[in-house]
Amino acid sequence: MLSKLFNNLKKTDFNITEYITTDLHSHLIPGIDDGVKTLDESIEIISSMQELGFKKLITTPHIMYHRYKNTKEIILDGCKKVNEELQNRDIDIELVASAEYYFDENFLELIEKDDLLPFGDNYILFEMSYTNKPFGLEQTVFNLLSKGYRPVLAHPERYSFLNSNLEKLDKLKDCGLRFQLNLNSLIGFYGKNPRVAAKYLSQKGLIDFVGSDIHSMKYFDSYKKAVSTKQVKELFENNRIKNYKI
Ligand SMILES: [Fe+2]
Repeated sequence: MLSKLFNNLKKTDFNITEYITTDLHSHLIPGIDDGVKTLDESIEIISSMQELGFKKLITTPHIMYHRYKNTKEIILDGCKKVNEELQNRDIDIELVASAEYYFDENFLELIEKDDLLPFGDNYILFEMSYTNKPFGLEQTVFNLLSKGYRPVLAHPERYSFLNSNLEKLDKLKDCGLRFQLNLNSLIGFYGKNPRVAAKYLSQKGLIDFVGSDIHSMKYFDSYKKAVSTKQVKELFENNRIKNYKI
């Protein structure tokens, strides 16, 4: 299925790392979520990203109370261990950690307690249910903004309740959210609806950040193919991507 997908891709001479050298959104701390399982796997992916030209990775393990009970401390400790191994192997790349928060009770409490792990200039990456809009979404975005955070919705193109009705994406953006698109969505890695929604967001210039959302080598292989396609080239022409600022 994926090889058929890759055969249909139109490659260009577009080089993503002439535009951005920071990747936002990945799962590269071993054993703490559904991302990489071992330190070796993590190092293999990180050095592949470096070979592609990336200089900085902001990795974002899940914090999802009912599945991955991660905390700021667990994530920072894991990131430190990966950095030590990068140093041991002389791999010169900056790896920092933030989180991908799932919109649940725990997230609301962490906001209340100001106990978050932002990236860049106080940005908070979060995801939510794929099927239903969570109750109080706009209010929570407002609360985050009032506290000086800048909420960023992870992969808006992937939520079925949004990608089945594209105008909802415009409306959601209006409440003060930033959008982070997964580049793999543009080539159909997640299926048709996310691909169509990704194209819609790209053409309307609604994207603020792009990311790899790499969980394993399979994601990297697809990402590597995606970044030189016509679709990604067009995205950079139509949107003011701010990865270079973080
Ligand atoms: Fe993710």
